[in-house]
Amino acid sequence: LKRLAVLTSGGDAPGMNAAIRAVARTALARGVEVYGVSKGYSGLVNGDWQCMDRTSVANILQTGGTILKTDRSDAFRDPQVRADTAERLRAAGIEALVVIGGDGSLTGAHRLEEETGFPVIGLPGTIDNDIFGTEDTIGFDTAVNTALESIDKLRDTATSHERVFVVEVMGRSSGFIATSVGIAGGAENIIMPGHPIDFQLICERLNDSLRRRKFSSLIVIAEGEDPQLTSQLTHDLGVAGYPARACILGHVQRGGSPTGHDRVLASYLGSVAVDYLLAGTSNVMVGVRKAEVVTVPLQDIVSNKKVVPDELIDLAQILAT
Ligand code: F6P
Repeated sequence: LKRLAVLTSGGDAPGMNAAIRAVARTALARGVEVYGVSKGYSGLVNGDWQCMDRTSVANILQTGGTILKTDRSDAFRDPQVRADTAERLRAAGIEALVVIGGDGSLTGAHRLEEETGFPVIGLPGTIDNDIFGTEDTIGFDTAVNTALESIDKLRDTATSHERVFVVEVMGRSSGFIATSVGIAGGAENIIMPGHPIDFQLICERLNDSLRRRKFSSLIVIAEGEDPQLTSQLTHDLGVAGYPARACILGHVQRGGSPTGHDRVLASYLGSVAVDYLLAGTSNVMVGVRKAEVVTVPLQDIVSNKKVVPDELIDLAQILAT
């Protein structure tokens, strides 16, 4: 392997820069040239890539976002475009590709290798932590901590004003951020995607709290398919006599300096990915299970959904009551 390319794709996640740096520096240390692709698959399709050296990735370890920029590309869904892209990569002497992104991005990577034989390796880069086969993803820890900073602040106001806050966190349809934030922030209720809201139960819990002279309450709600859910629940609580406010944390959860945990995770996985490619392993993602680095066939990621473990949901519910 003499030349590889690296790209970030899908929603940005804190730690992506640390991963790019680890890929670039490990490759250079092993005598492999590295090309950074701009704007994910859009840049890949257009041949928008640049040769990187050690200084191209200097001083980015601690920064959020991605220096390579990112995109959600529709063009790459077309098999013909993928075939043309593989040709373009080969013509440029690029022999392998590292894709840092979420499950949609890794699905694109898988299709590229399956259809064209072009070697790819994936890194789990998403705040959602919803990628099958890995217990952790680059950016999740930072997003949880970012959301918690806000939750702790909202708790102050909830207590001072004796209010209920309905706090919506990101995580697409998975609920990993909601569960972690709910547990770590002491939420009185956690509403998971795919689980209908039990309004009566929420009211009973609020009444229990009031009987115990606890006047503040936080309800963490995972964003799901219904964008109206948070405002509807807040409205219904108001009608039922509970002073409630909604707070949608939104994209603040995607930015910011990565935590130490995410920097180490990204550095480790980025470096290991290059070594796997050098050893001839591809069409896999490198992830983590039981504190060990594992490889997960990209096919498994495409055909399986990762769900929040029941024990964690049970724990969240026990602690909330
Ligand atoms: O996948 C990361 C994520 O932030 C999800 O949690 C969220 O559903 C989605 O991306 C938002 O996407 P966009 O940046 O296109 O608004």
